[in-house]
Amino acid sequence: MATGIPKAKWNGELPAGDSTNGQFKFHPIWQQGTNSNRLYFGDNILAMKDLLKDKSIKGKIRLIYIDPPYATNSVFQTRKQQDAYTDLLTGDEYVAFMRERLLLMKELLADDGSIYIHLDNKMIFHIKVLMDEIFGATNFRSMITRKKCKSKNFTKNSFGNISDYILFYAKSANAVWHKQYDQWTDEKILKEYPFVEEETGRLHKRVPIHAPGTRNGETGKLWRGMMPPEGKHWQFTPTKLEELDRKGEIYWSKNGNPRRKVYLDESNGIAMQDIWLNYLDVNNQNTQTTGYPTEKNIEMLKRIILASSNKGDLVMDCFAGSGTTLVASDELHRNWIGIDIGSESIKVILNRFQNGTQTLDEHTNDEKPKPEVNKTDLFSEQEKDIKRPSPVKNVAQHLVKDYAIFLNSNYSGTEFPLPVHSKLNT
Ligand SMILES: C[S@@+](CC[C@H](N)C(=O)[O-])C[C@H]1O[C@@H](n2cnc3c(N)ncnc32)[C@H](O)[C@@H]1O
Repeated sequence: MATGIPKAKWNGELPAGDSTNGQFKFHPIWQQGTNSNRLYFGDNILAMKDLLKDKSIKGKIRLIYIDPPYATNSVFQTRKQQDAYTDLLTGDEYVAFMRERLLLMKELLADDGSIYIHLDNKMIFHIKVLMDEIFGATNFRSMITRKKCKSKNFTKNSFGNISDYILFYAKSANAVWHKQYDQWTDEKILKEYPFVEEETGRLHKRVPIHAPGTRNGETGKLWRGMMPPEGKHWQFTPTKLEELDRKGEIYWSKNGNPRRKVYLDESNGIAMQDIWLNYLDVNNQNTQTTGYPTEKNIEMLKRIILASSNKGDLVMDCFAGSGTTLVASDELHRNWIGIDIGSESIKVILNRFQNGTQTLDEHTNDEKPKPEVNKTDLFSEQEKDIKRPSPVKNVAQHLVKDYAIFLNSNYSGTEFPLPVHSKLNT
């Protein structure tokens, strides 16, 4: 969980806003690799309008995840006390800001695409109503409640606030969907699969072989001299039940009641539900981070990407922040588009692409005064002896190498350093 500082004054660098009167075009200023992944620096409304002009992208994005500002009326800072982004729009203004952007996202999304919107309790209901209007209430799939931080000693006269929410909508009934499972834990196995098959040692549970509702067909008929209990029917036809029994998959109780054995080794795991307890914010745990204030848990992003896209698909996060969605997509072999308006975000993303994340300790140590470094040279080859925090040993880090950086053609600032080996597009 990141806590914003309630204030209306912004100390960061000016965002790359629209001073263009609609005359704008984004172009790549740096690229490496195949050019299938794009990082945009600018207001997402402009970047998305530009993307909509591109036939290879309009209606082709399979998955959008966004974690926009939450209308907290705060400014968020990095671990090094740099202003990262403002979150000052509230009420009507916030809804209008989201509305015009969600309309563009819908246009960019493929017909079998999905969109996930991460919010907290301030605007979740406003945006739910908006999403029902834009994407259609029938395309609503889930509202996920995520535990964002550990329990805390809450000082207000209310229950501790440890959750936020993710709205999941499909663009149509055909949206790509891969059911997700959590792994079984020993504790859960003991509870759910308490029986051991004598002959094989296979763990299993025993479930009824009937289901509610009467049927006139095969499943409503006599099996082994028994009718299904009143108001119920067999889950399988008598022929199939015979087959299961022959294979030893029916358990007969002492008083002759049949039950079906369901084996642990045939289970994919525990089907994920809409309460997620295992994806706490990284800034709230003793783990590696970029230092960006509202960085989300990358494992959570991987789940979303695996559930709603395939390898080779295009994923977009137009409130990219520290680039969590982009790194997760890259690692899972999806192509991606990231957009952010803040130069601090772009700096953090580029550092993450090249160096990965660091431990909280490394971020703290990093706050010690350092020799003054020319901003534009920070990543250049000449700066070989500047000690950068190295990725933590023993933890696999996915570094991102194949991407292009896009800027609005009207923009002439130098707010973030380009990576080394830069190749300017002509
Ligand atoms: C909550 S943060 C996203 C954090 C991100 N999910 C992560 O894991 O790091 C919201 C981001 O939206 C960006 N943002 C706000 N308004 C924007 C706009 N109009 N266009 C593009 N980005 C914007 C901010 O700069 C900030 O980085």
